[in-house]
Amino acid sequence: MRALILGATGGLGQALARALKGQGELLLGGRRPEALRDLAQEVGGRPLPGDLSDELEAKALLEEAGPVDLLFHAVGMAGRAPVREAGRDLLEGMLSAHFLTAAHVLKHARFNQGGRAVFFGAYPAYVRVPGFGAYAAAKAALEAYLEVARKELRKEGVRLVLVRLPAVATPLWAPLGGPPRGALAPEEAARKVLEAALGEAEEVAL
Ligand SMILES: NC(=O)c1ccc[n+]([C@@H]2O[C@H](COP(=O)([O-])OP(=O)(O)OC[C@H]3O[C@@H](n4cnc5c(N)ncnc54)[C@H](OP(=O)(O)O)[C@@H]3O)[C@@H](O)[C@H]2O)c1
Repeated sequence: MRALILGATGGLGQALARALKGQGELLLGGRRPEALRDLAQEVGGRPLPGDLSDELEAKALLEEAGPVDLLFHAVGMAGRAPVREAGRDLLEGMLSAHFLTAAHVLKHARFNQGGRAVFFGAYPAYVRVPGFGAYAAAKAALEAYLEVARKELRKEGVRLVLVRLPAVATPLWAPLGGPPRGALAPEEAARKVLEAALGEAEEVAL
């Protein structure tokens, strides 16, 4: 099996990489080359650094990766601002991290027969709350795009899976002052995500 984890330098991505260690060829994407190199050494994977919000970089990375059986888009960022204060940087940054990166992946990723790609959503009830408008809107854009992509890519034999996560204790929460109490450990989340990735459902809520 060839698996590509995008966002491998993040909390969920690292946990997925560790869970998949020794189970085939592991390709690891992220923006921070040193963190990526360290993880690649630890799990025996191949580092593929690049910024996926830049289409040329995304295309080059995905060409370098080649066809895969399993792809994880564990990419994103968090931030908080009320609608009356949200600035262009936050709005563009959020759409870029969640939606543009996913759109570039959907455009340029190549899959082996029966390939699957997993994207991460959030529970609307948790994120459509004061302060989280930009994050909630970016996740909504990602979900809508994915729904269309699923219909288009089905004829190529590619299955797209949306996994809605509860709070997971990862660095995503750092700008918000840390994860909430009761957040899932990344290892536990990764285990459940792998189960979902190999199952039949196209939408899974953990
Ligand atoms: N943690 C939660 O509670 C939670 C809940 C619901 C959904 N999710 C979703 O789950 C996914 C993984 O989240 P996480 O908690 O693991 O977040 P994280 O620890 O903050 O990791 C985010 C990852 O995204 C990468 N990234 C961000 N922008 C990128 C770009 N332009 N190009 C390439 N890589 C980029 C980061 O790379 P570098 O670090 O190398 O820059 C990092 O590897 C996200 O989509 C998140 O929205 C998380």
